[in-house]
Amino acid sequence: MRVVVAGATGLIGTALLPLLQARGHHVTALVRDESKTVSADTVVADALDPAAVRDALLAARPDVVVHQLTALRQMSAEAFETTARLRTEGTANLITAAREAGAAKLVVQSISFATAPLGDPVLSEDAPLYLDAPDPGWSRTVQAVAEMERLVLGTPDIAGTILRYGTLFGAQTQYDPAGPFGAVIRRGQLPIPSTATGVTSFLHVQDAALAALSAVDSDVTGVFNIADDEPAEGATWLPEYARLLGGPPPRPIPSDLAEKVLGWFANYQLTAMRGARTDRARTELGWKPTVSWRHGLASG
Ligand SMILES: NC(=O)c1ccc[n+]([C@@H]2O[C@H](COP(=O)([O-])OP(=O)(O)OC[C@H]3O[C@@H](n4cnc5c(N)ncnc54)[C@H](OP(=O)(O)O)[C@@H]3O)[C@@H](O)[C@H]2O)c1
Repeated sequence: MRVVVAGATGLIGTALLPLLQARGHHVTALVRDESKTVSADTVVADALDPAAVRDALLAARPDVVVHQLTALRQMSAEAFETTARLRTEGTANLITAAREAGAAKLVVQSISFATAPLGDPVLSEDAPLYLDAPDPGWSRTVQAVAEMERLVLGTPDIAGTILRYGTLFGAQTQYDPAGPFGAVIRRGQLPIPSTATGVTSFLHVQDAALAALSAVDSDVTGVFNIADDEPAEGATWLPEYARLLGGPPPRPIPSDLAEKVLGWFANYQLTAMRGARTDRARTELGWKPTVSWRHGLASG
């Protein structure tokens, strides 16, 4: 098949291109910066420019469009806002252009941890999203995710597959042991709330790319959580990550101080967030994770 990957220069895109090529697909990378080297044909467009995206997809003539666009290399408020725009306007641009170019399928990156913190510690794809999160940044993120998924699943003539990725780990992610977060943990500078029962479902970048490959090759459509086998409470993964990095155990702080010290999201992740069940991806997509956070978080 002819496959266009938008976000081909990102961590997941870079891992995905050779997997698609090894399966015999003709891959075109949609890039915004022509000077970046990728191991595929390229078309050039800023995803937020509808005319450029249209021209790019008309030139590439894809059967399948894969959307791995985010701006989350930096974890700033501006990067989250740009990512929300990529999820809404960028997705709408890709859909309009994909339809015009005659594509039959869209495979789109979403997140598994946008669910509301209600009910079981580990939730399926049917759980409600946290649209009314009290933090304005997080509610904007979740609303953009919901809009993106609605656009993709509601597009006539094009089959949509949403891959709700868990929290990414691996080289160059936020959890790269060589990165700034690893350094903070190694120095024992990240405290842990005294009740850290929030659950994180992690996902290695390579397993995220393998899930996108499965989705491109499958006739199955819909929403799939994609995460590792070991959803873990903050009280489990954070001390273990510190131990693996050779740092001291994180210092406990009273729960009522934790949001002030850690910020809204980190406190939410450690105290209330829910993990993701992946049964649907295993049975319907035939995908399963190859590495869990316990064996990969500290090795990049
Ligand atoms: N589920 C998760 O936990 C999750 C999800 C996503 C990202 N992240 C975090 O984000 C970081 C980077 O991940 P990543 O490499 O996948 O994401 P990324 O660096 O943000 O890359 C995403 C891709 O989107 C492209 N892009 C961004 N804006 C664009 C635009 N306006 N037009 C066209 N292309 C555009 C980028 O191109 P350029 O190369 O030109 O910038 C890149 O190819 C990691 O630390 C990861 O942990 C986490």
